[in-house]
Amino acid sequence: MQTYDIVTIDGDGIGPEVNQSAITVLREAMGDRLRFTAADGGAAHYAKTGAVLPPDTFNACRDAHAILHGAAGLPGVTYPDGTEVGNDLHLQLRFRLDLYANVRPIRLYRGVTSPLAGWAAGSIDYVIVRENTEGLYASRGAGIVLRGEVATDTLVVTRKGVERVARFSFELARRRSGAKRDGRRRVTVCDKANILRSYAFFRAVCTEVAAHYPDVEIDYAYADAITVHLLKKPDFYDVIVAENMFGDILSDLGAGTVGGLGIAASAELGDGHGLFQGAHGSAPDIAGQNLASPLATILSGAMMLRWLAARHADATLLAGADRVEQAVEAVLAQGEQVPRDLGGSARCTEMTDAVCRQLR
Ligand code: IPM
Ligand code: MN
Repeated sequence: MQTYDIVTIDGDGIGPEVNQSAITVLREAMGDRLRFTAADGGAAHYAKTGAVLPPDTFNACRDAHAILHGAAGLPGVTYPDGTEVGNDLHLQLRFRLDLYANVRPIRLYRGVTSPLAGWAAGSIDYVIVRENTEGLYASRGAGIVLRGEVATDTLVVTRKGVERVARFSFELARRRSGAKRDGRRRVTVCDKANILRSYAFFRAVCTEVAAHYPDVEIDYAYADAITVHLLKKPDFYDVIVAENMFGDILSDLGAGTVGGLGIAASAELGDGHGLFQGAHGSAPDIAGQNLASPLATILSGAMMLRWLAARHADATLLAGADRVEQAVEAVLAQGEQVPRDLGGSARCTEMTDAVCRQLR
């Protein structure tokens, strides 16, 4: 049976706790099929060594089957330009490994109460695909600050960048079973094409790609309007594709409708590499107190198994992914161990043990 080399980067704040929790759960699910190798990186490492992503860590990430990351970033650890150091860890990995599709599932699990009234478990189930290597983020580290009077960042939209993230989104819609509201396979293109040419270009290229997917409906929504739709008709959505900055904002809004960032998984995927991490941050205020919910990182681990299963045609990994997701949902549905962010008091290790018990 093939084994898989996973590089893990604990990072900062709650990163070590949630990352180690996910590793424990993945070992429970997959035994010795996954070989975990820890690597350094993040704001604390930068403060000690001056390197947020040491070359050895980058090379290990480049050569591994997948990357599992806790969280990165510490307040006050900033570059001279004022931007945060910790974020540079996975931003560098995104750009240097070309992880162009940031996949963020928004799903209401059993046992979780949505702040939106009247939505039952399973009735909200869509995926935000955030373009992850250009858009407004292309300007990170390259913006202009002049004489302390003017600052600019440029939004970059390329044909290649849009084609590949749109194609990814339509292929994803093909693999899903359609929107909860009507069962229609649908890709919603989110932009501000009515105002900016760059977004009109984004929309036009997505529309060209859609022509190759007659079995998937294309839908359009402006970034402001969709914030209302995600609250009023979340079951209409199946797959949403958006430019980097819009995707960053909408994925937090979506996560908020299904329990919050403590349960928000993410998979950052390129053609050759995958980085899996909870979409939350390093939450330094609760770091080291065993208070963080590990569910976002555990569910990101399940996304990692699913992604590896597809890349390596490995059905045992697919079964493992299903078991991990079902174990998390069973723990939430039972309601005995509930993490703090979902209204309970279960500690990180208690959630980890509960998910492992379900797996056994
Ligand atoms: C996210 C985060 C990152 C981003 C930060 C931490 C670099 O907000 O992954 O959503 O801005 O993309
Ligand atoms: Mn974000």
